[in-house]
Amino acid sequence: MADEPLILGIETSCDETGVGVVRGHTLLADALASSVEQHARFGGVVPEVASRAHLEAIVPTMERALTEAGVTIADIDAIAVTAGPGLAGALLVGVAAAKGYAVAAEKPIYGVNHLAAHVAVDTLEHGPLPEPAVALLVSGGHSSLLLIDDLARGVTPLGATIDDAAGEAFDKIARLLGLPFPGGPYIDREARAGDPAAIAFPRGLTAAKDLARHRYDFSFSGLKTAVARWVEARQRAGEPVPVADVAASFQEAVCDVLVGKALDACRSNGVETLVIGGGVAANSRLRAMAEQRAARQGIRVRVPRPGLCTDNGAMVAALGSHLVAAGVAPSRLDLPADSAMPLTTVSV
Ligand code: KG4
Ligand code: ZN
Repeated sequence: MADEPLILGIETSCDETGVGVVRGHTLLADALASSVEQHARFGGVVPEVASRAHLEAIVPTMERALTEAGVTIADIDAIAVTAGPGLAGALLVGVAAAKGYAVAAEKPIYGVNHLAAHVAVDTLEHGPLPEPAVALLVSGGHSSLLLIDDLARGVTPLGATIDDAAGEAFDKIARLLGLPFPGGPYIDREARAGDPAAIAFPRGLTAAKDLARHRYDFSFSGLKTAVARWVEARQRAGEPVPVADVAASFQEAVCDVLVGKALDACRSNGVETLVIGGGVAANSRLRAMAEQRAARQGIRVRVPRPGLCTDNGAMVAALGSHLVAAGVAPSRLDLPADSAMPLTTVSV
């Protein structure tokens, strides 16, 4: 609808420079410039390289988004920007750019939480999120289960990883198997040709003794070690490593734990909607497993299409749009970039 607010979103927390434009829940533009190829040879994101790439990409990406949406900065009602969590130098570029545009065009600014934006993006595909909902957030830097009572004003953390993030585990195992960075999509692809039951890898924090203290927490470091030991034993024996089977069995172990704990959180909180967000939500096995198991329990799963799961500007615009609609006050113009912004802070 033309009378809904027109929101611009800027994302620069990691290696993607994203600018999105939404009107209400309608996505109008989602421009992206990625520095992922500049990091590939290091096997991980190099913060200084990411910051420099954002500096170069921010203005052209902004112009591309406005053109794609067919609007000018003067038409925008509010600017939302990822204020944290993320890489400090990378966040600074987006926050400084957002402030510059906000001052120049006299627009309100919203400094928002990247993780809440990963949840909000689903509204662009599936409409308003029923509340309460449970959110499973799985990205390269975070893995958390959240209870969403009110996405505009606060979320309740239920659990999180106690070591590696799920995406980090995918990236490390991919590296071990000689696959490119970032490894998640490559494991996903390899696993399609493999047998998920070929190797029984451990499911972290699912034993009865762990559940007492860590019912909704995750741990992937034991799994990572188990995969490494298994591969090393093969190599020592001079046998070929069955990459597809290892990828499929590893992926199965990760998804099994993520889905099991997320559905447990829904049941025990009387929640009927599970929303999955973050880069790992693009994983085809995670999506299929969550849908199958949830359907048997009468729980509805919402996952945005893969292109909206990984970092982008549209997700920030979607959260900004939700905040404006909920009547949340804008941020101060001196809002800081906060690399360690807590999950419970939706906007600053
Ligand atoms: O949300 P995101 O784009 O950036 C962060 O905020 O971290 O997530 C990136 C992570 C990477 O670890 C990447 O390997 C993983 O998401 N990822 C996947 C898939 N696509 C991206 N993991 C598993 N399967 C995928 N298809
Ligand atoms: Zn992310």
